[in-house]
Amino acid sequence: MKDLNCLSLRVKNNQLSILDQTLLPHEETWREIGSPEDMVESIKKLRVRGAPLIGVSAAISLALFAQTTEDRQLIKKKGLLLRDSRPTAVNLMFCVDQLLGLLDEDMPLEKIVEKAEVLFDEDVKLCELMAKNGNKVIEHNDRILTHCNTGGLATVGEGTALAVIKEAHREGKEIKVFVDETRPLLQGGRLTTWELTKEGVPYQLICDNMAAHLMAQGAVDKVIVGSDRIAINGDFANKIGTYSLAVLCHFHNVPFYVAAPYTTVDQECETGKDIPIEQRDPGEVRGQNIVEKGWAPLESDVYNPAFDVTPAHLVTGWILDTGLYNQQDVKQEKLRQLN
Ligand code: MRU
Repeated sequence: MKDLNCLSLRVKNNQLSILDQTLLPHEETWREIGSPEDMVESIKKLRVRGAPLIGVSAAISLALFAQTTEDRQLIKKKGLLLRDSRPTAVNLMFCVDQLLGLLDEDMPLEKIVEKAEVLFDEDVKLCELMAKNGNKVIEHNDRILTHCNTGGLATVGEGTALAVIKEAHREGKEIKVFVDETRPLLQGGRLTTWELTKEGVPYQLICDNMAAHLMAQGAVDKVIVGSDRIAINGDFANKIGTYSLAVLCHFHNVPFYVAAPYTTVDQECETGKDIPIEQRDPGEVRGQNIVEKGWAPLESDVYNPAFDVTPAHLVTGWILDTGLYNQQDVKQEKLRQLN
């Protein structure tokens, strides 16, 4: 495989490494990934995370494995293992299926490697297109609230929602970002802040439960988030807490946008009801990943869905690489057959 390089993933001389996102922002540690099983573990533990990035990372890991064996059944088995590593972000299934399709068609194994490289390069372009399309909705002096991490750490390119924000800043628009810390794993507090600091975009970090207070003061002009899976009717899954932001926007009359590449639109999902929601370790909510004993009794019963579904009627606009879609476009089923 050719050498590849982005903010949190590298291939050099056929050795794949990832930036361990669980250690950010204070430690920038790269880990070598030796096998598809290693990648599965890193995806499950969120060392590698973000819908587009887990898709491309899984594809690269599978392609590197395909360089080491002629055993097609074994390659397929590893592909299915990677495909199952997380259930909600459809980009994972999309990318792995592209490679498994070539296997099923009996294509030479080099084609699998080429396809993984194409997926890597394509993601960079998709991010650029989303950034350009999304920039059209950003105005000078906008105060934008965002949730989770949707930047270069979550994609191969500049990101989804965060790419839009960075594009507006680079163009010279004076914007300010409110960064939701994003309980329970703090992707906003740890990762989005890290990216915006590097980029020099003015931001303030807030706890998730402060958004309503800000909106009530008229301090938020728009909200932009990413997505892990969009249904054909426009309903979409994103990091837990996104739906409550959409409801708050509706109540306070604040425009609410979602940015995602076409690889996030699931042609098999008619509505948000079809989107599987990942349930995660109770220890995350008890804070056991942050302080040794956690902050809740160890026996506390916990509910920990990693994502929620925002209904289409709460969305002002869908920012895709293929364009900007409004309620009418989505009602006319323009999300069907994008790819
Ligand atoms: O659990 P994570 O950190 O992988 O969740 C990531 C998100 O929810 C992002 O908002 C999403 O992947 C879309 S942006 C790339």
